[in-house]
Amino acid sequence: MSLTLDKEYLKGFVSSEDLKLIAKDIEKAHEALEKKTGKGSEFTGWTDLPSRIEDSFVAELEKLGKDVRQNSDCLVSIGIGGSYLGIRATMEFLRGKDGFPVYYAGHNMSVDYHYKLFNCLKDKRVTVVVISKSGTTTEPALAFRLAKQFLKGKYSGEELKKRIICVTDAKKGALRKIADKNGYRSFVIPDDVGGRFSILTPVGLVPLAIAGVDIRALVQGARDGQKEYSNADLEKNIAYQYAGLRYLLYKKGKLIEVSSSFYDNMSFVLEWWKQLYGESEAKGGQGIFPASLIMSTDLHSMGQLMQDGVRNLFETFLDIERSEHSVVIPKEDEDLDGFNIVSDKDLDYVNKQAYKATAAAHFEGGVPNMTLRLMKADEYHLGKLYYFYERAVAISGYLLGVNPFDQPGVEAYKKKMFALLGKA
Ligand code: PA5
Repeated sequence: MSLTLDKEYLKGFVSSEDLKLIAKDIEKAHEALEKKTGKGSEFTGWTDLPSRIEDSFVAELEKLGKDVRQNSDCLVSIGIGGSYLGIRATMEFLRGKDGFPVYYAGHNMSVDYHYKLFNCLKDKRVTVVVISKSGTTTEPALAFRLAKQFLKGKYSGEELKKRIICVTDAKKGALRKIADKNGYRSFVIPDDVGGRFSILTPVGLVPLAIAGVDIRALVQGARDGQKEYSNADLEKNIAYQYAGLRYLLYKKGKLIEVSSSFYDNMSFVLEWWKQLYGESEAKGGQGIFPASLIMSTDLHSMGQLMQDGVRNLFETFLDIERSEHSVVIPKEDEDLDGFNIVSDKDLDYVNKQAYKATAAAHFEGGVPNMTLRLMKADEYHLGKLYYFYERAVAISGYLLGVNPFDQPGVEAYKKKMFALLGKA
């Protein structure tokens, strides 16, 4: 099994018997998703997206990636939210695949960030991918203006044109107009896939292919995830078990889910997860608050809270079975720090003991926890994990009775900001 769910430390909090009691509700949620009869069904194109991605499209993107890497020193990926987090999550998870540098813009409006970014790009050959489903989001729109100004200072004519790639809606939005009017190469984000579910559309695939990520393996992982986690049989489907268990925990007053990993390359995967779960579930005064920790770093800052604070949380560890490299702890002649007990052992051995100890201690401290375990940190497993999380949140959203595919709350600040800016 490339992805497993360990439920040992839920004992006494929720049981497989409890899960059976809501099996019918999970089945109903599954049916609603499959038959597209549930809330927000017009945005469920992601459910069978992996199996609909054509190999020829993957090949086209691989070719684009090769061409860009030949004529550029780096990529600037402009986007925010669903048009940013999955790309960064994948890059950080794979630790900057093949060393092709990817810079991000338009995910904040910090003047110093953008000043320093364009300053450091001055002497580099740059290609820009601008991603916005709506094509009207403030942060990427402004960053794109800055990027165009920067590129125009270096290139003109066809050379300028080929250094700008747009990923946006087929018809709607300002970015579509800009792309068409200027003849920039563009890719379409399907109408029926919302921002936070879009990592396997051109939103993720275009910049990742340029960065040299093995998108073929990423897509294959998601395809296998689609098969495995669309299974109506709750006993066989760990995505549905995860959805059901966290729903039961929530109903028992565990209002916060802390996702923790002892692998720092999971940091942005968890940021992506937070958007997916926070935006999908939190509607009408409901929803689990998604939080994340990177261990063992955060054990030295948040460990006290996890062990001994308000008992309104549960924890999901995201573990990696096999690390890519080996780092052996050296033996010292004088064992002054007392750590010769682990000399000649791999550092990951100690990391794993820290994880086991934490899971046990938090359980004893009143924090029920599960572990979602990936066999390896590669593109295939990440593709599968993305699909796992998407499928599970759709089910848990339906269990909560909300529309998991809209985000009306995101608009509130925008309206007030536009009013302050005097924008229509
Ligand atoms: O989930 C969402 O839809 C949002 O968080 C978007 O991803 C984010 O606002 C970016 O939107 P867009 O791609 O339209 O620029």
